[in-house]
Amino acid sequence: MNKAKIISTGSYVPENIVTNRQLEKKVDTSDEWIFERTGIRERRIALKGQAASDLAYEASKSAVKKAGIKAKDLDMIIVATVTGDMQFPSTACILQDRLGASNAAAFDIGAACSGFIYGLSIAENFIKSGAREKILLVGVEALSRYTDWEDRTTCVLFGDGAGAAIIGLSTDDSCIIATDIQSDGSMWDYIHVPAGGSRKPCSKETVDKRLHFIRMKGNETFKVAVKTLESIALETLEKNKLKPSQLSLLIPHQANLRIIQATAKRLGLPMEKVMINIEKYGNTSAASIPIALDEAVNTGRVRSGDYILLEAFGAGLTWGSALIKW
Ligand code: UT7
Repeated sequence: MNKAKIISTGSYVPENIVTNRQLEKKVDTSDEWIFERTGIRERRIALKGQAASDLAYEASKSAVKKAGIKAKDLDMIIVATVTGDMQFPSTACILQDRLGASNAAAFDIGAACSGFIYGLSIAENFIKSGAREKILLVGVEALSRYTDWEDRTTCVLFGDGAGAAIIGLSTDDSCIIATDIQSDGSMWDYIHVPAGGSRKPCSKETVDKRLHFIRMKGNETFKVAVKTLESIALETLEKNKLKPSQLSLLIPHQANLRIIQATAKRLGLPMEKVMINIEKYGNTSAASIPIALDEAVNTGRVRSGDYILLEAFGAGLTWGSALIKW
């Protein structure tokens, strides 16, 4: 069986920074509350007219360049997003056109914040089977477009951005050792956008009732996130006969610093071995892990031979992990 590896990474965040102090002027909140409860100080918000594929394009260009390949070498493009440019076609097809990646099959997947891990699992299996050789995987969100800027319980949490990776055949020791993806649809209503789909198409009523914005049962979601992330991380390590102490870096989805700290504690990992950038970007959903991974690579926090664990949790509910030898 072939082995798959991450050949290169790239990321992009919009230039527009919105701080907690700025949000204090919009809703009844404070920098202290937001930072203490989430670890967030600021987030990036896409400029007017900037859509998911625009962010994805910048991150992808960087990953393609670093891989030393041409866009035409890509034979698949997977975009993980729940905030694509439009209902259809897929953002992946729009990105394919922008990149000139004319030899790729392109499609989107919607697993919310777990999207990058879900995409990695799909890409890994296409490479392992020998069906594809060079896959561009992007996690991108323009969550600000679905954020209710009058709802203090959600608007302080999210940000926009994109992260990309090229997945290909491994010919050396470095590889994706294992991916694990799971979901529990019984909690689908914990995080959702009620209208705009076939259940409640857009109407004056849905707009008036603000049903096109994210609704989240934050506290309930928090509890499930802590429990499932702890168990999937330990399960993945155990199945692959590794101890948490052998990990060089944990790269968790950046939803809440307290969730990240709880997982690290359960694994017995010191915080120096945990990648955290939530203070700068907030929760960028499917983009959070690839943005953090790219930052880890660029700052030398991931080196050849390191064992790293990626893990995510999000709407669906969905969750997943990926164990990698870099
Ligand atoms: O990425 C996908 C997965 N998503 C997650 O994993 C998110 C998980 N959830 C969370 O991160 C946290 O639950 C939140 C950050 C969303 C909320 O933190 P919490 O500690 O669970 O707070 P809470 O919802 O229990 O609210 C506590 C209090 C409430 O006031 P009362 O009822 O105690 O008077 C809220 O109204 O904090 C209030 N509150 C705020 N106060 C100031 C909620 N949002 C704000 C705010 N500013 N922005």
